[in-house]
Amino acid sequence: MKNSSKNFLAINTAEEAQISSIMARMELSEKIGQMHQLSWQFFSKDQNWEQIIREGRIGALLSVRDRDTVNRLQKIATEESRLGIPLLIGDDVIHGLRTVFPIPLGEAASFNPELMEASARVAAKEALASGTHWTFAPMIDIALDSRWGRIAEGAGEDVYLGKIAAAARVRGFQTENAIPGHTMVSCPKHFAAYGAMEGGLDYYHAEVSEARMRDVYLPPFKAALEAGAGTLMSAYHTLNGIPASGHQWLYQQILYGEWDFQGLVVSDWNAIYQLIDQGMAADKSEAVEIALKTGLHLDMQSFGYLNKLAELLQNKRIDPSLIDDAVRRILRIKIKLGLFERPFVSSEHSQVILCVEHRELARKSAQQSIVLLKNESNILPLKPRQKLAIIGALAKEAGEMLGTWNTCGLAEDAITLWQALESRQEHSPLQAESIRYAQAYELPKANYASDSIPELNQELLAEAIKVAEQSDIILFAAGEPCSWSGEAHCRTDLNLPKPQQAVLQALMKTGKPIVLLVFAGRALSLEWESENLASILYCWHPGIEAGNAILDILEGSINPSGRLPITLPRHVGQMPLYYHQRLPGRSRDNGGNHTRYVDRATYELYPFGFGLSYSQVKYKELQISKSRISAKVDSNEWLEIRAEIVNESNRDCVEVVQLYVHDVAASIPRPRRELKGFQRINLEPGEKRQLVFRLKSSDLGFHNSQGIYITEPGQFQVWIAPDSRLGLKGEFWLD
Ligand code: NOJ
Repeated sequence: MKNSSKNFLAINTAEEAQISSIMARMELSEKIGQMHQLSWQFFSKDQNWEQIIREGRIGALLSVRDRDTVNRLQKIATEESRLGIPLLIGDDVIHGLRTVFPIPLGEAASFNPELMEASARVAAKEALASGTHWTFAPMIDIALDSRWGRIAEGAGEDVYLGKIAAAARVRGFQTENAIPGHTMVSCPKHFAAYGAMEGGLDYYHAEVSEARMRDVYLPPFKAALEAGAGTLMSAYHTLNGIPASGHQWLYQQILYGEWDFQGLVVSDWNAIYQLIDQGMAADKSEAVEIALKTGLHLDMQSFGYLNKLAELLQNKRIDPSLIDDAVRRILRIKIKLGLFERPFVSSEHSQVILCVEHRELARKSAQQSIVLLKNESNILPLKPRQKLAIIGALAKEAGEMLGTWNTCGLAEDAITLWQALESRQEHSPLQAESIRYAQAYELPKANYASDSIPELNQELLAEAIKVAEQSDIILFAAGEPCSWSGEAHCRTDLNLPKPQQAVLQALMKTGKPIVLLVFAGRALSLEWESENLASILYCWHPGIEAGNAILDILEGSINPSGRLPITLPRHVGQMPLYYHQRLPGRSRDNGGNHTRYVDRATYELYPFGFGLSYSQVKYKELQISKSRISAKVDSNEWLEIRAEIVNESNRDCVEVVQLYVHDVAASIPRPRRELKGFQRINLEPGEKRQLVFRLKSSDLGFHNSQGIYITEPGQFQVWIAPDSRLGLKGEFWLD
């Protein structure tokens, strides 16, 4: 498929001339109108909405979600307004539209950029067919703390994986002519370091050094823009004391200075007026002045630009060129999307929505996102003719499979584990002798965790024990409902909800082996479960094909291949927890007092990159092509690191082979490990494969406190590894 997302923003003289000619005819109110965006749910309640569009007093909407309505709005904008400028229609199309894919964090566990690109393309097709041509995605905030609900929306804790996922998703969303005649533009968010908030609390504060900004939080944004992202969204938090949506360094120094971004920046919802609540702006006028001078071009939902820009201009507090620059960028996106020529969407495209191929991809994506964490005595895959007890409300709750941000997903489209088992009963290789279900616990009804967890229900518990006793094996579906994850849904407790723990403990007493299926939008702490249960499959919120994908893995027709894109903790008290931490001065090896918790193991429960399959894969014979290469940042010298990967089992498997390095001594000491590459490979039974990774000195540097990317001579350790703890280790030097 032709994909020119990379060149999406390329400046084109004819287009720029078209923009100039439109702008020459625009009145100030029309320019300001272009800089104003409202949600359709809100705007449609204004009795004068048609007239407002006709007069060019609004340039963009969000969350319209209906093709006919979009066409009606565009008709007024393009045929009845003075200048005929089409509207920009945005929405949060985060992990699919009607075809809901696993949450992005789950899909990141696939370590499969082609898959991420393909699912973003499907999302773009369905959204375009529904009239939305601008997605507020991908969310590319590196997140180190699972208390933060929005960790569900991104690719996890790692910079390298974060960059790859960001670029893949931008390419997918911005596939040219994803449906004939229509292209979508993406909006990476939230600029920047929104995932670094203290306490894992949303809309809060982050303190991040410049070196860390450049090493960890900015690279996914750079990668997204290099992949051609046309727009960007501001963030809600304060960064080093300054609200991110009014942060001159982020915008003037980095985005427009060093990166020369020519696209459009939209404020997050009401982020402009929040500058007042954040203590930066004294009033609405000042908030608008700060936002415009920072470089925010389009105001989502605060009405600030609409109500205050003219007055600020009159009082000479802002320069008219800032308004012109914003309008130029907004019109540029509308032209690049072809909205002037094709503002309407024909109904003939709707057949893509929830079509068979999209469902198939959603199933593949869910299969590849599921991570097998434990499999004692090869209890999985399930054996034929077992008596199965399916226990736990989440095995039957279709809506809970969809995850956060499923704006157009429908519970009725989703397949639960129970439905998959029922529909496959006859032709499943399991030929289960019996399948019984017990609900065991109630799901919280309200939106928030703390005050809405139902008590343990003794009747449900008794029923669950009865069902368990009649079985050979228990499949226990547990975890958090979707409404506990996502925006503004942060948690201080990462354990399974108490009633679920109580049921599990009671089920343990039956002596039946238990397979735990975890549904979650974040890393949960499963220390007790890991010590006591036979098997754990981490399913995230897997999307509409949840049940089919899980059953494919339980049956063994699919060999699990997901790897953790975030570290799983033992306890919430370890947060923030991530594999690329720096080494402590007093480690265990030094004896005496050292970096540790006195009440619990200090290290994680399962490391980043970890995941089992039903095969045994061995890593052998690490070789490094040279022991020394030039340390010069611009040197073209590279070294090859090789290992032999052997599938010692008698079934096909997928292995995600990972390359890590550690710079042993540096002027700013480096993390204990950093991921520098991975390869997701298929291995046939008994197959041996030589894998080669390449490294150059420019892969091995870091930013100093002046913000300059440097490399330093010295010793490096390198691993080819199945996860961020294990692996074959070697060393080389930069000279
Ligand atoms: C606020 C969220 O922070 C942002 O991610 C989202 O795109 C907007 N609301 C629009 O829904």
